[in-house]
Amino acid sequence: MAAAAAFLILVGGYSNYISSLRFTPSTSTLTYLTQTASPSATWLTQHPSNSSIIYAAKEVWNQPGAITTMVLNPSTGSLKTVATINTGTANGGTVYVEPINNGTALAAADFTPGTAMIVPLGNDRTSFSGTGQVLKFVGSGPLPNQASAHAHQTLQYNDEILVADLGSDLVRRLTKSGNSWSQAASISFPPGHGPRHMVVTNNTLYTIHQNYNSVTQNTLPAISSGQASQLVANVTTVPPGTTSTSNMQAAELLYAESPCGGSASPLLYASNRGDPSSQGDAITVFEITPQLKAVAHIRTGMQQVRGMSFVGPTKQYIVAGGTNGGGVKVYERTCQGYLTQKAALNSGQITQTTGFTWVPSS
Ligand SMILES: *[C@@H]1O[C@H](CO)[C@@H](O)[C@H](O)[C@H]1NC(C)=O
Ligand SMILES: *[C@@H]1O[C@H](CO)[C@@H](O)[C@H](O)[C@H]1NC(C)=O
Ligand SMILES: *[C@@H]1O[C@H](CO)[C@@H](O)[C@H](O)[C@H]1NC(C)=O
Ligand SMILES: *[C@@H]1O[C@H](CO)[C@@H](O)[C@H](O)[C@H]1NC(C)=O
Repeated sequence: MAAAAAFLILVGGYSNYISSLRFTPSTSTLTYLTQTASPSATWLTQHPSNSSIIYAAKEVWNQPGAITTMVLNPSTGSLKTVATINTGTANGGTVYVEPINNGTALAAADFTPGTAMIVPLGNDRTSFSGTGQVLKFVGSGPLPNQASAHAHQTLQYNDEILVADLGSDLVRRLTKSGNSWSQAASISFPPGHGPRHMVVTNNTLYTIHQNYNSVTQNTLPAISSGQASQLVANVTTVPPGTTSTSNMQAAELLYAESPCGGSASPLLYASNRGDPSSQGDAITVFEITPQLKAVAHIRTGMQQVRGMSFVGPTKQYIVAGGTNGGGVKVYERTCQGYLTQKAALNSGQITQTTGFTWVPSS
């Protein structure tokens, strides 16, 4: 495949805007294009077969959680909102949305008191078909951010939807019967972990825990086997040299093949938030074979690195932002050193960034 000349990167967050940036690898530049009003669009994604269709999770406090569909003008970077639907909580925040079933429906996770929603899309993939199904979860954990169930991510896996419930220390396993989804099994973590995001590959579940700043590896036996998931490994995301973890909250977890090729281990990338280091938060890189192991800690110079996203058809790049400062940076996934800073933009116009997605740019 010919390398795209440039990429359009959409940046959402706790500000009132989604920002559109152009990333040009040949010149190592990240430039501002435009902004579209869309308050607290903290998670962004796109339709799997039409990258002009963008979905945003809306995390507006004291308003009902919602997801919004938008159409992107790829030459200007501007977005037009088409439809919005509430995700089931009166006073919450929708923190995650993903297309499921080959882009015929959306699944969303809502923060508090903890719901997941599955809603079919209309044929145009920008309208909703019906009101969807809302699953309300009940649970809690011992820490202050665990007062209730707290769904943070959905993840389609074979015939299941997994839900990371940060409040209840559970990964919930939902299955569909007829037209309705329900919880068929769950994987529990010791009280206080705060499972936030997940990756599934090779019948293995990797979970990043916000409260204890670690990544766990678990088996994922078929629900029909009746077997319980086993904990295989648990590795800290915290870099050596970090002096205090008291304000740290691990956030994102990404998976990709190694850029080294051959039999090199696939890699996981974990974002750390709230590191007291003067060099900012780090992205921790893990190899997963022959065993889960942290192999690099890339200091970013950014504060509160929350969401991160791959950029490029073969995941050549990772974009990340500092919610509390340091701008937006794009890293190249390199064989030597794992991540190399490729481009950066630190503009007062683009603040409180949390979530990203990308499309090819003309
Ligand atoms: C993608 O969606 C947009 C917005 O609905 C539409 O205008 C466009 O024709 C679609 N592209 C394809 C290839 O279907
Ligand atoms: C997924 O959706 C695309 C676009 O509508 C379609 O071309 C493709 O055949 C679908 N794949 C499956 C497995 O249904
Ligand atoms: C897949 O899982 C098997 C069995 O646990 C393991 O031996 C193998 O190394 C894994 N491969 C990858 C690429 O993760
Ligand atoms: C995993 O590691 C974290 C951080 O080192 C620790 O706090 C936690 O108790 C461990 N969890 C398990 C299940 O071993």
